[in-house]
Amino acid sequence: MTDQLRFDGRVVVITGAGNGLGRSYALFFGARGAKVLVNDLGGGRHGDGRSSEAANTVVNEIRALGGTAAANFDSVEEGGSIVAAALDQFGTVDILINNAGILRDSSFHKMSQEDWQRILRVHLHGSFAVTHAAWPVLRAKGYGRVLFTSSGAGIYGNFGQANYSAAKLGLYGLANTLAIEGRSKGIHVNTIAPIAGSRLTETILSPEQVAALKPEYVTPLVAWLCHHSCTETGGLFEVGAGYCAKLRWERTRGHVFAGGGGLTPEDVVDHWAAITDFSEAEHPSRIEDTFAQVLGASANERST
Ligand code: NAI
Repeated sequence: MTDQLRFDGRVVVITGAGNGLGRSYALFFGARGAKVLVNDLGGGRHGDGRSSEAANTVVNEIRALGGTAAANFDSVEEGGSIVAAALDQFGTVDILINNAGILRDSSFHKMSQEDWQRILRVHLHGSFAVTHAAWPVLRAKGYGRVLFTSSGAGIYGNFGQANYSAAKLGLYGLANTLAIEGRSKGIHVNTIAPIAGSRLTETILSPEQVAALKPEYVTPLVAWLCHHSCTETGGLFEVGAGYCAKLRWERTRGHVFAGGGGLTPEDVVDHWAAITDFSEAEHPSRIEDTFAQVLGASANERST
């Protein structure tokens, strides 16, 4: 049996921690010895309004359980002030959980520029802004755990969520590069695509599903990915209702055309079955894995 994972003395910044998943993370870390900066703008599910109530309530809950927490009410779009609040209150940052989010769903042909930009600003730019402000702190101390929150909508697409899907898969791209850049500095960066009953999903899930998909079922994976003994970095995980699974890319063996320079569209059609055949698939995990294939094809071209 694994000993209880502790976070004593660690400073955890959690964005959007006033409700749903973020609140569950905040209560967990507060109960396991961490100092928690509970950030939440306190707006509605579409990003309207703001209030100090959500963050203050969670801070009071953590303190009532004997934990240490402070509230911050800034938007993630102003990431620097959130990290500054953590430095001011607790002196450092060890763990950053980018979680804040809103929805502005609409089918693409009806989507306004504002719906598009607002979602990218909160999810993609907001996560960038907070992480960018925390990054020098983590680099200087040679330690950090950073989590990004993607979504099945980003990975697979979902009707009515073009803005959200673009932002959510963008976060995975950001996480991939930060995992590479952070590795030598002890900074591990992972991404989750959670499913949980919350005010974001209560309009699309049945009351039974909302009750079954408790945010608390996502928190254990988040806790492990943020623990100092976890070596995982650059991972993408689906998690919810007691299910945790890791995703990876898959690529067909493809086809290398002899004399690639003379390649015609008809050649592509003639080899379409091989190009799209996953029966002997590979699992590329680094950009070099792409270069290797392309350079192999160009060497083949030069030798013909
Ligand atoms: P929630 O609505 O319960 O909590 C999100 C919190 O973020 C709210 O308290 C809100 O006030 C806060 N927030 C919104 N904009 C903010 C901003 N600009 N600055 C600071 N705080 C802000 O939603 P939930 O479900 O807990 O979602 C958490 C994250 O998980 C989001 O990023 C969401 O997109 C993602 N997610 C959730 C899924 C689910 O099934 N609940 C599915 C896939 C992804």
